[in-house]
Amino acid sequence: MKNIAFFDTKPYDRIWFDRLKDKYGFEFKYFESKLNSDTAVMCAGLDGVVAFVNDVIDEKTISILSDQDIRILALRCAGYNNVDFKAAYGKIHVVRVPAYSPHAVAEHAMALLLTLNRKIHRAYIRTRDFNFSINGLTGFDLFGKTMGVVGTGKIGRVFVDICKGFGMKVIAYDPFPAKDSGIEYVELEELFRRSDIISLHAPLTKETYHIINQDSIALMKDGVIIINTSRGALIDSEALLEAIKNGKIGGAGLDVYEEESDIFFEDYSNAIIQDDVLARLISMPNVVVTSHQAFLTDEALKNIAETTLENLRQFFDGEDLTNEICYQCAKYGSCEKQGKGRCF
Ligand code: NAI
Repeated sequence: MKNIAFFDTKPYDRIWFDRLKDKYGFEFKYFESKLNSDTAVMCAGLDGVVAFVNDVIDEKTISILSDQDIRILALRCAGYNNVDFKAAYGKIHVVRVPAYSPHAVAEHAMALLLTLNRKIHRAYIRTRDFNFSINGLTGFDLFGKTMGVVGTGKIGRVFVDICKGFGMKVIAYDPFPAKDSGIEYVELEELFRRSDIISLHAPLTKETYHIINQDSIALMKDGVIIINTSRGALIDSEALLEAIKNGKIGGAGLDVYEEESDIFFEDYSNAIIQDDVLARLISMPNVVVTSHQAFLTDEALKNIAETTLENLRQFFDGEDLTNEICYQCAKYGSCEKQGKGRCF
């Protein structure tokens, strides 16, 4: 029986893992705390670790895990910017869930846009208070507007299709354009200049860090709407706040935030939020923040649990690691998987 540590778990993801427990014959130890260099010691005597988006898997965490003979780290998410892959290489195999439901995230991106544009968040509060005034709730037709999509991988491409269903014109930027997709690719600057709405679907890398910043915002149309369901640090939050305040940006739908790791997924309704930028953004009528929930559908949770446990099974059974990623793969280079279809 293999004992697996789960970090940063909540009831909604435990349900799906528990349902599959007997099938795989694993024992689970759930921790509510995040995985970091303080909590890594809790893995003593266990066989594997399952981590999530805001766990801090840096060199120190990896060294502590490795000292405890942990050789497999399974991310139960697609993004992997929180892992120091160079530190992990040769010590701990890192596997992930490359796709669990691109539809879940793409549909949430559109939900954020529709909410913002048609002011559903404000209408909901008004009618609950029996205020049936529609003053200030004017939106615009999405039909015929230009959507700029940054990153046309699995999620971006589903989002492109959704936008086309609305009769929007779609342009996109991706350093690795999808061949034969029929998508009109443009340079990033052109995308910034031409788009009425910009939706971010690229991973967080050195190149995408603060891709939305003071300079890029200056290129954009007045009143542009920004949607971010990828990673918070794609946007310089202070530049965004400034542009919301001066009216340059007409709205922002944010499922992710660059300083989210100590805030999102927790209930702070009785506390005073210390992050002034986030507090100010949330106070804006034209900003909608959700707490990294774009993935949160039954279908996605089921797929995450199945793929994560299958990844672990492959490791313990000595098989190829279908979903392993290392620092060479992560850079979109070609990792020559070695030995039994493993990165090292
Ligand atoms: P993917 O790997 O299928 O696609 C990413 C695309 O971004 C690729 O086509 C890649 O070429 C492109 N890209 C790489 N560097 C770029 C750059 N500098 N500029 C523009 N495009 C660039 O990933 P997928 O599944 O579509 O996910 C996208 C991102 O969404 C993930 O990296 C993750 O950060 C985020 N995500 C968020 C979730 C949420 O709940 N909010 C859930 C799942 C993923």
